[in-house]
Amino acid sequence: TEIDIDAEDLDLGGYPHYMAKEIQEQPESVERIIRGRLDDRFGVARLDGLNLTPRELRGFARVKILGCGSAYYVGQIGATMIEELARIPADAEAASEFRYRNPIIEADTLYIAVSQSGETIDTAFAVEEIKRKGGRVVGLVNVVGSTIARACEGGVYLHAGPEIAVASTKALTNMAVGFALIALALGRVRDLSNADGQRIIDAVRALPGQIKAILDFEPEIAEHAKTVAAAKSLFFVGRVRGYPVAREGAQKFKEISYRHAEAYQTSELKHGPLALIDEALPTVAVVPSDELTERNLAAVQQIKARGGAVLAVTHADVDFGELDVPRIVVPKTEPELDPILLTIPLQLLAYHAALTLGYDIDKPRNLAKSVTVE
Ligand code: AGP
Repeated sequence: TEIDIDAEDLDLGGYPHYMAKEIQEQPESVERIIRGRLDDRFGVARLDGLNLTPRELRGFARVKILGCGSAYYVGQIGATMIEELARIPADAEAASEFRYRNPIIEADTLYIAVSQSGETIDTAFAVEEIKRKGGRVVGLVNVVGSTIARACEGGVYLHAGPEIAVASTKALTNMAVGFALIALALGRVRDLSNADGQRIIDAVRALPGQIKAILDFEPEIAEHAKTVAAAKSLFFVGRVRGYPVAREGAQKFKEISYRHAEAYQTSELKHGPLALIDEALPTVAVVPSDELTERNLAAVQQIKARGGAVLAVTHADVDFGELDVPRIVVPKTEPELDPILLTIPLQLLAYHAALTLGYDIDKPRNLAKSVTVE
């Protein structure tokens, strides 16, 4: 396959690592995925590449998202967005598991394969299995003309630009934005109103500026990273919308800082893992300002009461009261889209932890950019 890459894209452009460059590129790469796709007249996303008529879009009873690693975690973010905006049951599964378990393929399910490279073998095999059984599968893929992009019957290209660092950042953010667009398209052929569609469109348009604002906090996040890098083991916790954010945060941390980072649903802490909390095990807690804030704050309080340090990724209006908790404050978007922005500081946290620890950021040990062999 011929891939059209600008020489400039492959240049570090003054950055010490590709990961740093790719994190900083996100305001522009998000601009690219939304360009020409927002329709203000009808409060909807125009996704002609999906090759689905409104009647077909309307006919799906379920959505199943398949990807590996971080793409799977962003798929979980996408499933929640689709359930919230389109009110269709949606879930995400690791393609690496799905392909081996003789999956039940349903004619009224929309399957979405999500992949930066478009070459991940487990995801490609999942696509073939779906097609072989007569299912409808579309792609959310970055690399144009890649194996998965070609195998799918339609899709949404991410337009994130070439991503070189093994630890994915800008492609994942564009996946999450791509899911917001798909959720909008599925929602607007159902019960999502024009006004609600417009609410999401306005929020999507504001994302690049908000991402810039988060990136401006890099020096503060770098300071937090020094503290967390000192721990041998960490928890990342989040609830509902925040849980896949925590999973992706832990994944990024593991990949490049080689620290044990375990993601947990905040709600599940008291069912077991709370026993592990002590001074040596800090927690990064996703605490957005939404209908679950009070519950999240109660969990933070329980962690603190057991001597555990907490770093919160949160919004400005969340009142921590007496709790002595360092915070990374993220701009607020519409609640359904919060995970897109909450994930960004966790990229910087992992990056700066790895920098502090002196590891090879762009090429972490034991990992390849895309897993194309069994
Ligand atoms: C991300 O930081 C990881 N390197 C990894 O989990 C990756 O997302 C996964 O292997 C899937 O790759 P893909 O998006 O190219 O299919």
